[in-house]
Amino acid sequence: MSLLQALRRLGQGPTMQDWPGLIEAYRSWLPVSDATPVITLHEGATPLIPAPVIAERIGRGVKVYLKYDGLNPTGSFKDRGMTMAISKAKEAGSEAVICASTGNTSAAAAAYARRGGMRAFVLIPDGYVAQGKLAQALLYGAEVLAVQGNFDRALAIVREVSERHPVTLVNSLNPYRLQGQKTAAFEVVDALGEAPDWLCIPVGNAGNISAYWMGFNNYRAAGRCRRLPRMMGFQAAGSAPMVLGHVVEQPDTIATAIRIGNPVNRDKALVVEAESNGAFMAVTDAEIIEAYKLLGSGEGVFCEPASAASVAGLLKRREEVPAGATVVCVLTGNGLKDPTTAIEHNDSKFHTGLPPDTDVVAQVMGF
Ligand code: F0G
Repeated sequence: MSLLQALRRLGQGPTMQDWPGLIEAYRSWLPVSDATPVITLHEGATPLIPAPVIAERIGRGVKVYLKYDGLNPTGSFKDRGMTMAISKAKEAGSEAVICASTGNTSAAAAAYARRGGMRAFVLIPDGYVAQGKLAQALLYGAEVLAVQGNFDRALAIVREVSERHPVTLVNSLNPYRLQGQKTAAFEVVDALGEAPDWLCIPVGNAGNISAYWMGFNNYRAAGRCRRLPRMMGFQAAGSAPMVLGHVVEQPDTIATAIRIGNPVNRDKALVVEAESNGAFMAVTDAEIIEAYKLLGSGEGVFCEPASAASVAGLLKRREEVPAGATVVCVLTGNGLKDPTTAIEHNDSKFHTGLPPDTDVVAQVMGF
């Protein structure tokens, strides 16, 4: 009997506090021990939301779900990796952490490091981080260093700094990050009772696709699911090194979260592609924005532009989805992270400067 069933039998509804955070929930699957101080914001347990409007566009009985990881405590999937990375850093006696980030990693690193009583240093590409993410890093008490270079350059710098000075690197080169992130695959299987046929996921540094693959494989090895999904990774066309097969020196896309030209997890991700019979494909900024708007106005789900790349990719490759298949699209970050893009790209009517007059309001409404 599950915890949920037991509570129902007692006539008690579940409460948020029944969810202990992902380290406790999946402890036996993770490299933690009694000596690990668990630094948690009760991340994980994010909803798998059916997407009927998108499914209808695919047709042929295909079922589509959105793994809405934007509902984590700092608004992105990075919390899954960060609860692990920061807990292990704390266990090792570290007093400071560092990362390079397009915004989400820095928000999560800041929140978890501060909660663990550590200093957080974050390097961001100056001018290319969505406003909400910058606000988070500052508010959580990180020391923010904006460098005049892209993410790839910032990552090279933090690697060197962490080799020379007593600060723990918490980018996805830190193996505990992917361990934490693999729990999203566990949750997908726990919710569906089986792995999906396709997993569509945005790809930047290619850590998350590798983490999901590890999670599905762990579960299959333990008999929790029988099959493994095809892993479909989508990159923005202007920042698509995995698709092109070479480093992109000047990555460019509206989806700043995945504005990455030299993914550090490239080799791992190529293994995922080969083993899962998957593929890396590019979607244009226009396709990303179309999917972003459709998710908002069609499904009622607000994600950030990078996250919408998974749905843009699914729509683009719809002909290849087998009839009746189950598809999960990963929505990696919350739309509130990037209000600027939402305000600039929507099809809604926005009537400004109206007089405070009932008749005028009714008239504008079309009555
Ligand atoms: N989606 C969002 C919202 C992201 O923030 C990122 C990566 C990705 C997708 C890609 O994941 O790198 O594992 O392939 N953001 C990093 C950051 C780079 O600094 O926040 P990936």
